[in-house]
Amino acid sequence: MKPNFCRAAVILWVATLGVGGWFFVKGVTKTGSDGRVEIILAAAERDQILAEMRSLLKAVDGLIRGLGEPNPDPRQMEATARAVGMNMAADTEPTIMAKLPLPFKQMGMSIHKDMDALADAIVRHETSQQILQRLSSMTARCTACHDMYRFKAS
Ligand code: HEC
Repeated sequence: MKPNFCRAAVILWVATLGVGGWFFVKGVTKTGSDGRVEIILAAAERDQILAEMRSLLKAVDGLIRGLGEPNPDPRQMEATARAVGMNMAADTEPTIMAKLPLPFKQMGMSIHKDMDALADAIVRHETSQQILQRLSSMTARCTACHDMYRFKAS
């Protein structure tokens, strides 16, 4: 192999890593009309994430209702939290992941992780106040992320 060819191959390799890394951090985004970062997705991808969002809200609703009961059903609450845990995140396709900015991915993953931790906490019989604290640390992230990002179907 000629040295020039090797050099070209190395440059191409570094460039590919660089572009890949750039997308990994920045995703596919532009600034939206309201100043939030707009993540550009295919319509079906956007539908999929929004459906996931609605499941998250249903889980939060279910958990708060559970906590409000005089006799909460721990098994049902555990299942509610578990349903939106890391298992749900594992289903997200790599093509969607590639379009999401890094902080978005980190915040999203942290919610799924904390829902599993909340399910474990219910099994450990943590108090309702402790469970509420876990939940509020998550809802703070729901609102922080909604303030930062929005979706656009391409
Ligand atoms: C990593 C970022 C992020 C996190 C964390 C997040 N969301 Fe969202 N969510 C979004 C974005 C972006 C949208 C779309 C907003 C838009 O396009 O205006 C959205 C939309 C929604 C919607 C609307 C769904 C629809 O059908 O239109 C609901 C409901 C929702 N989120 C609930 C939640 C709840 C509950 C949590 C926390 C448990 C949460 N989200 C956490 C980013 C996030």
